[in-house]
Amino acid sequence: MSKQTLHVVLGITGGIAAYKSLSLIRLLSQRGAEVKVVATPNALQFVTELSLQTLSQNKVYTDPFKKLEHFDIEHISLAEWADVLIVAPATANILAKFANGIADDALSTLFLATTAPIFLAPAMNKNMLSHPATQNNLQTLRTRGCHILESNYGHLACGTDGAGRMQEPEQITETVFHYFDSDKKLAGKKALVTAGPTYEPIDPVRFIGNHSSGLMGFSIAEELSRQGAEVFLVAGPTSLTVQNIGINRTNVQTGQQMFEVCKKLAAQVDIVVMAAAVADYTPEVVAPEKIKKSDAKIQLSLKKNMDILTYLGHNRPNEEQCVVGFALETENELENAKQKLKNKNADIIVLNSLKNHGAGFQCKTNLVTLIDKRGNITEGELKSKQEVARDIVSYIIDYQIKK
Ligand code: CTP
Repeated sequence: MSKQTLHVVLGITGGIAAYKSLSLIRLLSQRGAEVKVVATPNALQFVTELSLQTLSQNKVYTDPFKKLEHFDIEHISLAEWADVLIVAPATANILAKFANGIADDALSTLFLATTAPIFLAPAMNKNMLSHPATQNNLQTLRTRGCHILESNYGHLACGTDGAGRMQEPEQITETVFHYFDSDKKLAGKKALVTAGPTYEPIDPVRFIGNHSSGLMGFSIAEELSRQGAEVFLVAGPTSLTVQNIGINRTNVQTGQQMFEVCKKLAAQVDIVVMAAAVADYTPEVVAPEKIKKSDAKIQLSLKKNMDILTYLGHNRPNEEQCVVGFALETENELENAKQKLKNKNADIIVLNSLKNHGAGFQCKTNLVTLIDKRGNITEGELKSKQEVARDIVSYIIDYQIKK
């Protein structure tokens, strides 16, 4: 962490969780940040301008069209001042504005004007959160590089239980400081990460694929890069984008293509993390033209794809290389994962159990158990995939130190 004061612009919108923003200001300030608050008019229904001003020790920005106090345009100068923009709580309304580029108040204008990293902490009723409009907006923001501080499960102000509870101020503070805090433990190291699904073509318009979003692998690539590693990300088809300019991305479609790229890259890296959901089977022949519909039955003949992890685990360039694989299991989880560790000659297996609520494909959260070659088994908790990525990378760092 640089010794300079971290400039935080904290956007607050109109949700009951706005009361938690007061503790958030306090925690951020206690860690040495300078906080300037931008509050929407609705936020001020829940917390007063005076409280925000007193805690942040700065004026509160509310109206971009107010008479200028200084001869600069406030939302632009604030956008440039910010090292980071945190919006907590972020209502469904502000997320919709952000995702669509609407700039009709101080906060939404600032959002467009800043180039600082952005952290959004959604807080709302569970049905509003799961509504396709909100989910699409979150996905749009995610692919544009916003860090979504995934809401927690719990009791909501509307009286029900479910997802939609804003992350606690401690958790938000930790994540933001961690983002800026890296002491680059992997400086000088190289890492290979695979992510996303593979698409195995049947004919020019159809394929066999799976529901992997790529988020887990992308989060690991970001975290490795943040820790100073030079990262090679080999990604199957996904709409995700990488944030860190230190990540070299290669896009592939099929398991065979992924294998070929990985084989070349693995020879020069210190860490390999195979997070991709590679199809185990691929059509034996790809029809050159679109298969036409007929009354006859159709049978697809599939052949086995190369198991990339097995190949890399057994063909390491040196003994120091750390090879990490994933295991997605629905039964006999631990036994199957241990078997994979052995068969694929991996150092660490990250076990995902689909039995856990909130874990696995298409989820923004994950719950994993880490199993390593030395016989250690570490059970995790349900966390956002970014936090799980942080845990996995820190486990890899500790494991490698002992190699
Ligand atoms: N993997 C791989 N190449 C494949 C299939 C899987 O590199 N062709 C890797 C995945 O990236 C993951 C690990 O192997 O790190 C485990 O994948 P998983 O689907 O859980 O297991 P499989 O080995 O495919 O076994 P099964 O589907 O029978 O559980």
